[in-house]
This record gives sequence, structure tokens and C-alpha cells, in this order.
Amino acid sequence: MREPELIYNPQGTSIGEISVEGPVQAIELEKMHLNKGLTSFRPPDRQIKALIEIANLPEGMIYAARDGQEIIGYLTFHYPSKYSRWSKHPRVLELGGIEVSPGWRRKGVSSALLREAFANPMVEDYIVVAIEFCWHWDLKGTELGLPGYRKMMIDTFKKVGLEKRATDDPDITEEAANIFAVRIGKNVSQADISLFESMLFVH
Ligand SMILES: CC(C)(COP(=O)(O)OP(=O)(O)OC[C@H]1O[C@@H](n2cnc3c(N)ncnc32)[C@H](O)[C@@H]1OP(=O)(O)O)[C@@H](O)C(=O)NCCC(=O)NCCS
Repeated sequence: MREPELIYNPQGTSIGEISVEGPVQAIELEKMHLNKGLTSFRPPDRQIKALIEIANLPEGMIYAARDGQEIIGYLTFHYPSKYSRWSKHPRVLELGGIEVSPGWRRKGVSSALLREAFANPMVEDYIVVAIEFCWHWDLKGTELGLPGYRKMMIDTFKKVGLEKRATDDPDITEEAANIFAVRIGKNVSQADISLFESMLFVH
């Protein structure tokens, strides 16, 4: 684990820094709870259980930003769902949910989580895909409309090398604003890259 990154609390004072770290083991997550604002995917008490389940999966990883034992932001990695076409590829890892509690947003927390996660040398062995469904986005309280929010996500992902790609994956094409972003790790073989490219459009 690298040194934690420090971020100021919502009041902007220098007390109450948070640490950004991972992968956090399931046994450590068991001692933590989610901030009550973390509701984008499911209620916090259920989402912490989901995070623990992911941490227990093969190649499942949780990165967390926390204030003491309270998680105020997190991101997940896991293998693609068996219903997804990407599960047929041996080297694809999915960047799952990324969420920061409303009171802590716009302070660089998600950027710090992404930086920490993509500093893990393990990501170089994988093609990481991010499948972003726009119905999880929280437009309330932002001045961004859907296109602006989409651009913010694309720009943020780009900073860690996740580039938007076109695909006919129905999960993505179901809604025009959805985003499919890809980062190919340095150690991925040419054969695995070619296989991935051949899977982008299959219809
Ligand atoms: C999207 C989300 C994770 C961003 O988290 P965050 O910690 O506020 O993001 P950061 O502070 O690291 O900001 C990242 C960049 O986006 C910009 N940004 C973030 N929120 C913004 C807003 N409301 N308006 C304008 N720009 C914004 C920041 O300025 C920053 O840009 P910069 O790197 O050029 O300075 C957070 O808003 C969230 O949890 N939303 C609900 C769930 C969600 O949409 N998840 C993503 C897809 S599943």
C-alpha cells in the first residue's frame, strides 16, 4: 500500500484529513461503515455488504477514501459479469462503481481514488474497462446537465489513461450518454489486444 493521500474535510479546514487507500481487504471493510450520503447504487448498509463481497471475489478490489472508519468514497474493480461480452475475454477487468458522498465532492476524492487504483502495477496486466451507465449519475446539485456530466466523467477517466471507445455492446448502446472507456495495460499481449479489438463490434 502506498502512503495515504490527504484531502481536506468538507468545511475546507485542515483538520479531518482523509486517507485514500487500497486494495482494502474484506476483513478491514468489515470494521468500516459507509457515509450515509453514498446512495447512488444502493442504500449504504447494503452497499458496504456489496463492497465486502467484491473484496472477496477473485481479482475483486476495493479502493476507499475514509475519514476514520467511515468510508466517504470508493471505487471497485471486478471481473465482468458472466452476462457481459467482456467476460469472454481472459484479460478484461472492470472498473465498477465509483462514488463520493455529496458533502465530499469536488475536492479531488474520486481523482485521488483513481490515481491510487491505477498506481497498482496489477492493472498493467489487464485491459481495464469502465462501463458507465448514465442512470447512476447524480445530476442534482451540479450545474452540469447530462452532456456536461458525461464530459466530466470522460475527462476524469482520461487522466488515468481510460480512453472512450466505440462499441456495439448493447449495455452501452441502450442509452446514448453511457460511456465505455478502456485502458490497455503495458503487459497485455498483442494477441489479447487483438482479441479485445475484435470484440468491440460483433453485430
Ligand atoms: C462523479 C463523482 C465520483 C466525482 O467525484 P469527485 O470526488 O467530486 O470528483 P473530483 O473532485 O475528483 O473531480 C474530478 C474532476 O471533475 C470535475 N467535477 C467534479 N464534479 C463537478 C461538478 N459538479 N461540476 C463541474 N466539474 C466537476 C472536477 O472539477 C475535477 O476536474 P479537474 O480534475 O479538471 O479539476 C461524484 O460526483 C459522484 O459520486 N457522483 C455520483 C455517482 C456517479 O456519478 N458515479 C460515476 C459513474 S457510476
